[in-house]
Amino acid sequence: MRKIYMFDTTLRDGEQSPGVNLNTQEKVEIALQLEKLGIDRIEAGFPIASPGDLAAVNAVARAVKNASVTGLARSREKDIDAVVEALKGAQDPRIHIFLATSPIHRKHKLRMEKHEVLEAAEAMIKYAKKHFSQVEFSAEDAGRTELDFLVEVTALAVRLGVSVVNLPDTVGYLSPYEYGNIFKTMKEQVPGIEKVQLSAHCHDDLGLATANALAAIQNGADQIEGTINGIGERAGNTALEEVALALYTRGEFFQAATGLNLQEIAKTSRLVSKLTGMPVPGNKAIVGANAFAHESGIHQDGVLKEKTTYEIISPATIGMKDSKLVLGKHSGRHAFREKLVDLGFEGLSEEQVNAAFGKFKDLADRKKDVSNEDILALLEEKIIET
Ligand code: KIV
Ligand code: ZN
Repeated sequence: MRKIYMFDTTLRDGEQSPGVNLNTQEKVEIALQLEKLGIDRIEAGFPIASPGDLAAVNAVARAVKNASVTGLARSREKDIDAVVEALKGAQDPRIHIFLATSPIHRKHKLRMEKHEVLEAAEAMIKYAKKHFSQVEFSAEDAGRTELDFLVEVTALAVRLGVSVVNLPDTVGYLSPYEYGNIFKTMKEQVPGIEKVQLSAHCHDDLGLATANALAAIQNGADQIEGTINGIGERAGNTALEEVALALYTRGEFFQAATGLNLQEIAKTSRLVSKLTGMPVPGNKAIVGANAFAHESGIHQDGVLKEKTTYEIISPATIGMKDSKLVLGKHSGRHAFREKLVDLGFEGLSEEQVNAAFGKFKDLADRKKDVSNEDILALLEEKIIET
């Protein structure tokens, strides 16, 4: 299996979620949990953004021992200097510099011609290389960059000796086929491409961030960038837990694996949600409250007979206790009886169970979620009556 490096940017792109602001202590707490999860590379922040962020990146750099820590810099000397400062004391530092390459960004944001972009990239990669042995270069908005120009930019970065070239779909615009094709093209056309790692960084504007990251893997990407719970700028980034579980569950298909300690996923997700104040939607893949919950009678009956009928991942894999059978109007007698046993009512007669089940169905028609307390109440009522 090919190893896929996991680059977590919860503390940088994730912190760019509107309304999120992590202080130093919170960043360190999350970074230490990411380390336990087995993340290979942690992007701790954007040190030029503020003195507070520089200090937070430094605290993370000093605290983390088993992952490489990086800071983000625009292609400007003062940004790079700030990362140098912030990563003092890091066990395994690396810098992440970026420069936009797409026509839209060149024209409206940078006001640069192609040759000026190439010159700026060259100057800044050389400057970064003076300070760091590990340099990641990102061609911002690679997804909307002309393929031949992207080949030129990537070839330049390879010649200058960067360790990683990142090709972001900055605005979440591409389909998996198109994004995969970027990686395929770089592999085919950039001389010396085998000397660098290629990295995917996707945004979720069209809900395709995970699919695009997986397409990149299928076309040779070595590193996936993303965040826990998929938080991030606008609609967010690739959710790393989704990529990790896709590779774990469908490893044979992708022929690739991460080195993550998957049992730490649920805990990491809860911590990030708590400290960022961003609740995880119930239907979120892998870590949502409903990801291992079954409501309909047919599904509940199946799961009670054999879990794999409706579960492709065991909750224990990500460090969760067990799947849940949620009682609602679609639930059947089998799950209801199991719930009664759970609640301590084991010796009920068939007649008592049937009577209580009838009452439960009436209640479920009126109430969306039927709680344990509701069931206890109707049982007491029913058992007394029968
Ligand atoms: O989305 C993006 O392009 C980024 C870069 C800074 C890598 O976040
Ligand atoms: Zn991004």
